[in-house]
Amino acid sequence: MTTTIYQKRRAAIARALKAAGGGVALLPTAPEVPRNRDSDFPYRHDSYFYYLTGFSEPGSWLVIEASGRSTLFCRPKDLEREIWDGFRLGPKAAPAELGVDAAFSVDALDEQLPTLLTSQKAVWWPFATHAGLQERMDGWLGQIRARVRFGAECPQSQHDLCRLLDEMRLFKDSHEVAILRRAGKISAAAHVRAMQASAALLRQGVKGGLREYHLEAELLHEFRRHGSQAPAYGSIVAAGANACVLHYRAGHAELKPGELCLIDAGCELDGYASDITRTFPADGQFTPAQRTLYDLVLAAQDAAVKATRPGKRFTDPHDAATRVLAQGMLDTGLLPKAKHGKVDDVLESGAYRQFYMHRTGHWMGMDVHDCGDYTEPGSKPREEKDALGQSVMRKPARILRPGMVLTIEPGIYVRPAKNVPKEFWNIGIRIEDDALVTAKGYELMTRGVPVKADEIEALMRG
Ligand code: GLY
Ligand code: MN
Ligand code: MN
Repeated sequence: MTTTIYQKRRAAIARALKAAGGGVALLPTAPEVPRNRDSDFPYRHDSYFYYLTGFSEPGSWLVIEASGRSTLFCRPKDLEREIWDGFRLGPKAAPAELGVDAAFSVDALDEQLPTLLTSQKAVWWPFATHAGLQERMDGWLGQIRARVRFGAECPQSQHDLCRLLDEMRLFKDSHEVAILRRAGKISAAAHVRAMQASAALLRQGVKGGLREYHLEAELLHEFRRHGSQAPAYGSIVAAGANACVLHYRAGHAELKPGELCLIDAGCELDGYASDITRTFPADGQFTPAQRTLYDLVLAAQDAAVKATRPGKRFTDPHDAATRVLAQGMLDTGLLPKAKHGKVDDVLESGAYRQFYMHRTGHWMGMDVHDCGDYTEPGSKPREEKDALGQSVMRKPARILRPGMVLTIEPGIYVRPAKNVPKEFWNIGIRIEDDALVTAKGYELMTRGVPVKADEIEALMRG
């Protein structure tokens, strides 16, 4: 049943090769990565490879020809290795299981590849994602060139296969949307669990203090108990001032009553990510200053969500959020009006970047920061101002269309500084949800966890 999806995707690639004048596509999965001595990092397949096969064994390669024929290379059956490392599908069972036309042992790759590449007009392979692949490709093509005088024809051009796959992956099909929704639901439940645990553990008292890793453990527990294979990225659990470190990871800092906790965490489910951020008071009660900034970030997120619908550009949610944040920075005195003027001046000068220095979202899918062009394909570059106010030639931002999935994640991060009201020092807040662009507008897939301050407080009291 699921094989059909992968066969359809392979057929789409074959059609694209044909439309480009013929050729062959080659795609390896990810290598196993040693951690130390006999231990590897947990294995994660290559997303492109999985997208076209649904196969997650290491040591696999896929070849698709413009004719539509697909060939898989995979690890051979090996009963001795299977005792130690587990089941291998093996080339004999692969065609029936995966719907490929032929399968060989990966040990035959160097022998078979020159044959598969001979007399093809072009070869498409991922240019940027596999170290050492260029050298292997040079070797295989070199073998064909050495036989040119015997009538062998070598592919005349090489192209980046990701150009084709990125565009396909940007638009999620119903199979993908169903998994993304489930991943969003599990992650939302994990955030709920962490919030409740934070308040309960502080009430109860924890020997040695409540630590960031305690809440990380709650997240992991919820991910795994619903069948998620792993976190989609390193979970951020940041106590107090740590929230102002954008790439902070869950550590051992103590969560103290009166301080905020920022959690940016999402599970990976069956190869698909989710990405949620919530910021909440460790003890369940916002202080007035925290609440002021929280409501500001939430208003910015609301504005960004409203700017998410078909026909809008990828940058519209960011622009909407930034305008709300900039106005709020003036209203709260984070940016003194006497110095910074009005909201348009703040947007023009970029002064808001002192407190909001990242983008409001990114594509999401198999990878948390998913592939896909952020500018509109086929459009002409035009003159624009970059982040530093310099003129640059840039294509207009991507137009949002149904099936795209993006995060909406404004924030505010206040580091202590002269002229910044002290009540806001060390407050870091981000609110992040995952949005599917639908025909009518958007669907937020991660709202199983409350986002309004009152609702968070009510949940944590419960
Ligand atoms: N968790 C990474 C991000 O929010 O982009
Ligand atoms: Mn995130
Ligand atoms: Mn994100």
